[in-house]
This record gives sequence, C-alpha cells and structure tokens, in this order.
Amino acid sequence: MIIISCSHGLHLAKKIAAKLKKPYSPLEVTHFPDTEIKLKFNINVKNKIIVLIQSFYRDINDCIIETLFAAETAKDLGAKKVILVAPYFPYLRQDKRFNPGECVSLRTIAKNIDEDIDEIYIIDPHLHREKTLSHIFKIKSHKLTANSLIENYIKKTVKNPVIIGPDWESYKWAQRVAEKVGCDFAIMEKERYSARKVSVKLNKKIDIRSKNLIFIDDMISTGHTLLEAIKAMKKLGGKKVTCFAVHGILVENALEKLQKAGATVITSNTIPNKAAKIDVSEIISNSLL
Ligand code: R5P
Repeated sequence: MIIISCSHGLHLAKKIAAKLKKPYSPLEVTHFPDTEIKLKFNINVKNKIIVLIQSFYRDINDCIIETLFAAETAKDLGAKKVILVAPYFPYLRQDKRFNPGECVSLRTIAKNIDEDIDEIYIIDPHLHREKTLSHIFKIKSHKLTANSLIENYIKKTVKNPVIIGPDWESYKWAQRVAEKVGCDFAIMEKERYSARKVSVKLNKKIDIRSKNLIFIDDMISTGHTLLEAIKAMKKLGGKKVTCFAVHGILVENALEKLQKAGATVITSNTIPNKAAKIDVSEIISNSLL
C-alpha cells in the first residue's frame, strides 16, 4: 500500500502514512498558464494498492478533475487497486433536481468516481435524502465518523453543556452526542430560502440558564445557519456558545462572522482551517488497517 497525497490531502496524508508505517509520496500537481492541470506520480505504483488522500474544498471542481486524473493514471501505470479517502466529499447536497431543468450534480460525480476508483472512504458524508453511500456509489464505500472525537472534545473542554442541532437533519446526531456527553438536547426547525438565507426556531423549551450552548452540525459553509441559530438562542438568554462541525468549509469569512457573534468555533481537520482543532488522521488510518 502506498499513501499518496493529492493537492488537498497534504495536511493528512503524511500523518496517515506514518501511523500505518506505509510509504508516502505526494502527487506532483502543476497548472499550465491556461489553468489546465498536469500531474505526475513520483513513486512506482505498479502492482501496488494506491490510497489517494484528497479533501474537496475551495477549488472543488479542480480537486475532482485532479482526483480522476490521478486515479486513471495510477491504473494506467499498473496499480492493483485505487482507493480514495475523501475526508470531505462535495456535491452530496445536490442529490436531487430541486427545480425543473437542473442538473443532479451528485449523480454525475458518482458515475465518474465509480468508473475510476475501486473503493471510497468518506468522513461524515452529508446523507439526507440518500440514506447510505451504497445508494450513491456502485463501488465499495465506507462511511467514517468523527463523532467520538467530537464527543471526547466536548467532555474534556465544556462544562454543563446543552446540545442544539440547528435543523431536523441533525436530530439523530445531536441526540447521540448528548447521550454520550450526558446532557439535554434540542433541535431547531430550519427553513432555507436561499444559499445565504435561513430561519430557525427551537423545537422545544429547554433550560439554558447557566448552560454552555453547544451547536453541532456536519458542516459550516457560509455560517448563516449557525448565525441565525446563535441569534435565536441569545434572544432566549443563551450566553456562552460553541459551534462544533466536522467540516469547516467556512466560506465568505464565516469563521470571523461567527466569532463576531460571540461563538467559539471548533471543527475537525477534514478541511484545514484556523478552527480545526480535532485531528481525524487516526480514524482514517484505523479504517485502512
Ligand atoms: C445542511 O443541511 C447542512 O447540515 C448545514 O446545516 C448547512 O449546509 C450549513 O450551511 P451554511 O453554513 O451555509 O448555513
């Protein structure tokens, strides 16, 4: 087995290779002046199992092309098997045609992944309408989770917490974390009007006096979901707020906006960012054993 970092997997690949005691080699990725991608393996992949580590953030579409190029090149060079570890996998929210004429983007992405890759690992994929990864990919798929890391982090750092899930999709998750941490939880009912406009309302009365409010979501993108949730809880008298998310996508200065609203933000490092305090490399390496 050889661990190969793609351009958005460098922050995890070396650690994973060290934990597994396997050879590591970074993929050499450059761009032509017109932005076309050129890539090169600097290790012999013939007859080897190749593990590509690639998280999909910022220039997501380039990441997709790069990953497909890498997988196909590895096969062309004689690799026995190509595994993709995607700490954060994109397009999972585009799993249906919301309006007439729209592309179901996830379907196209999945079709291409199925063609070039043999096995895929994803941390906390956004499964909502599709219930399992096997409904999305034909190849062998593995759903990993950072739940236990988040639970331990909360147990170690937050006293007297109450867990809030910012929408119904987070119900099971918030419930599980609350059970493990040993505290009360509630959910907010979220209505989404556009990518940057949501409204939220608490689903039940909870006692938040002298509690530390913990919001927990799978991802923070623009931060608007959590900004609205913070506003609503502050109106109810909530004081100390910490937002936990697995994937800190954090576009459009989301981190700064949340901090300005008085929240501490903690994410895992599926996507590297200033709030990434929880390391997922062990979860990945254990799953590859
Ligand atoms: C939605 O279903 C997700 O779980 C997140 O709540 C959402 O994608 C976060 O997006 P944003 O930070 O842009 O509100």
